[in-house]
Amino acid sequence: MWSPLTEDYKPPVLLFRDEHLKRMLELTTFPIPANIWVQGDKGLGKTLTARFLSAEIEARRIGKCYYVECQKTFTATLKELRDNYKFKIPTYVLSPATITRKIVEQTEKDDLVCLIFDEPRKAMQIKDFDNGLYWFYNSFLGKRKLSIIILSQIRFPVIHRIFASDTLSRMRFKPILFENYDVPQIVEILKQRLQIMLDPNQYELKAIVRLARHIRRIGGDIREALDLLATAIKHAEKKVDVEAVEYAIEWGKTRWWKNELTSLPPHWAYILYLTAEQSVQHSEGITTQSQVKTEYEKKAKEIGFQPVGRRSIYYIFNKLAEKGYFEQQKAGAGRQIHTILAMDEGDRRHILKAGKEMEWDLIL
Ligand SMILES: Nc1ncnc2c1ncn2[C@@H]1O[C@H](COP(=O)(O)OP(=O)(O)OP(=O)(O)O)[C@@H](O)[C@H]1O
Ligand SMILES: [Mg+2]
Repeated sequence: MWSPLTEDYKPPVLLFRDEHLKRMLELTTFPIPANIWVQGDKGLGKTLTARFLSAEIEARRIGKCYYVECQKTFTATLKELRDNYKFKIPTYVLSPATITRKIVEQTEKDDLVCLIFDEPRKAMQIKDFDNGLYWFYNSFLGKRKLSIIILSQIRFPVIHRIFASDTLSRMRFKPILFENYDVPQIVEILKQRLQIMLDPNQYELKAIVRLARHIRRIGGDIREALDLLATAIKHAEKKVDVEAVEYAIEWGKTRWWKNELTSLPPHWAYILYLTAEQSVQHSEGITTQSQVKTEYEKKAKEIGFQPVGRRSIYYIFNKLAEKGYFEQQKAGAGRQIHTILAMDEGDRRHILKAGKEMEWDLIL
């Protein structure tokens, strides 16, 4: 019942991306295939559309697609590609040239070869990637028609900052923009999955619209939408109603904050958490830097961690404010001057919830 909500599930119809798919097909099947830069925020269907493209190219016998999710280094990415397609290449000779040789063996003279690199930004050192792409490009010259397709959150207009100019002038990427979905589109995409899983009387359209509005506000990420939907279904009593969706949205926000706390340096995260906690204890969502500092030092003794120094604490306050977690305001006068920390109420609630679930004694 749950499979339509998983990442690997391929829906029967690709919604709202048929124009993009068509354009990609056109570009790759031109007499001289173009390289493509697919740009779009997370969860907007780039990977899914690439899967449809591969299926289409292979079904029409135009050629073959090779897909690889980029890894931390270019070498690891090559290994991934080799393993995905079971190329028998020993690691010590693994290179774009040896992979090209295998691909040439597997394809015919007039075949198109699509090399799809998914999200170089995630981990890869871009400089290696630049060299690697260039190498692939050269190894294929005169052997097969090649189209290199990059799926990325990196915006096309700034790729000149990360690629050498001669790479770009050879590659001449054509951009395809994946726009953020709007509310009706998100609703349709979710309904496509729901129709496979549930009876119409098991969910309220109103609830799905509520979910779609939330997802729209955070950019249209369908992966998040499907996660929240799964949570709502698990939580629902009889049907997926607004209450179940609200629960899922709360869950999603707490998860987001937990992620945020984990990605901050531990003492930064802990000070942020203590700020949330202190501002609940001191009415109106307001606390001062010195209150938080005192609490932090007290907790250091209780939990038994080594606190950062006084100067560092103030530095951390400034940095957290710069990142927008709270605002600093000066108050009082003369010797009584102090810095107030004001935090958004919703943020505070979620930081508290997320922070309570963290194992601070292990992290700090
Ligand atoms: N137009 C769509 N129709 C149906 N499902 C979609 C659509 N767009 C996205 N999805 C679903 O949303 C999830 C995320 O999509 P996908 O992985 O393609 O996003 P992405 O753009 O590659 O994101 P990221 O940049 O994070 O890799 C997948 O489960 C996918 O099936
Ligand atoms: Mg993707």
